[in-house]
Amino acid sequence: MKYNRCGRSGLKLPIVSLGLWHNFGGVTFYENSREIARRAFDLGITHFDLANNYGPPPGAAEENFGRILKTDFQGYRDEMVISTKAGYTMWPGPYGDWGSKKYLIASLDQSLKRMGLDYVDIFYHHRPDPETPLEETMGALDLIARQGKALYVGISNYKAEEAQKAIKILKELGTPCLIHQARYSMLDRWVEDGLLSVLEEEEVGCIAFSPLAKGLLTNRYLTGIPADSRAAGPSAFLKPDEITEELRVKLSALNALAVERGQTLAQMALAWVLRSGRVTSVLIGASKSSQVEDCVGVVNSLSFDPEELKKIDEILNCD
Ligand SMILES: NC(=O)c1ccc[n+]([C@@H]2O[C@H](COP(=O)([O-])OP(=O)(O)OC[C@H]3O[C@@H](n4cnc5c(N)ncnc54)[C@H](OP(=O)(O)O)[C@@H]3O)[C@@H](O)[C@H]2O)c1
Repeated sequence: MKYNRCGRSGLKLPIVSLGLWHNFGGVTFYENSREIARRAFDLGITHFDLANNYGPPPGAAEENFGRILKTDFQGYRDEMVISTKAGYTMWPGPYGDWGSKKYLIASLDQSLKRMGLDYVDIFYHHRPDPETPLEETMGALDLIARQGKALYVGISNYKAEEAQKAIKILKELGTPCLIHQARYSMLDRWVEDGLLSVLEEEEVGCIAFSPLAKGLLTNRYLTGIPADSRAAGPSAFLKPDEITEELRVKLSALNALAVERGQTLAQMALAWVLRSGRVTSVLIGASKSSQVEDCVGVVNSLSFDPEELKKIDEILNCD
């Protein structure tokens, strides 16, 4: 594993981090979740990313991860970076959603209980709240850091302008924004339109979620929709009709280029997200430990020559 410094901070993150959004809930086979987490850590993935609502049901991923921490990672807490978030719907009524101080403080206390932790390493506001004053939400993050319930704070899904405002407020409060968690892959490049420049200027780290476009940028869907894949399952976040013939043509061409480079499509997709040095870590999900092993193989071939990058753009832009 390789480790990158996160923005202008003392914290280094593995270039591949593991997210527990899928495959760690109450509906999945616990022993498989456990094996994925153990294999990841053995391969140098020190960073595990959670959120209050990951499951299903919401909270289940934190509970299961708490169980794994207790069973398998006793004595390793200081070698791990554990993050969680609040911002999406978590409990009924007006206090279990969005960005109020009331919600963020209560939610983190619940997350710590579920995981059996005294503190998390990173606490994020999960999405911008159009109604709550940004000063209140950032003030809650500052309070959480001062209380020692999170060592660092971050934001997620904030657009460039919103991120700039949040970063400024946090700086004034004396709790710098460590990191921004944003969706970024070959198939979704919105962060290139301003956000990455803001983060670079402000020296804030960037962790890219869904860098494999939820599994599309892998060998999973080159010839069909496997029965054990996310697209075949109940997840509302990847539907079979997203895998069009047009997309499959692009995926096959990308796969051929990856083979030429001596890596898998997943590895090339991750290397591509990391290519500019502006992304600290890619945040993958996995349904099997073998997928984690494959993804970690990205460390062996991270660089691209300009011809390869041009070819990737041509493949992505051809309609
Ligand atoms: N901040 C936010 O709003 C937000 C939103 C979404 C996600 N996230 C974070 O980002 C993490 C990752 O999201 P994601 O799961 O969508 O990421 P992803 O890495 O784009 O997709 C993961 C899926 O890709 C497939 N896969 C992974 N490695 C593979 C390999 N080597 N070969 C073949 N297939 C492979 C698996 O699909 P199958 O399951 O089909 O096998 C896996 O479940 C989440 O767990 C969460 O921590 C954050």
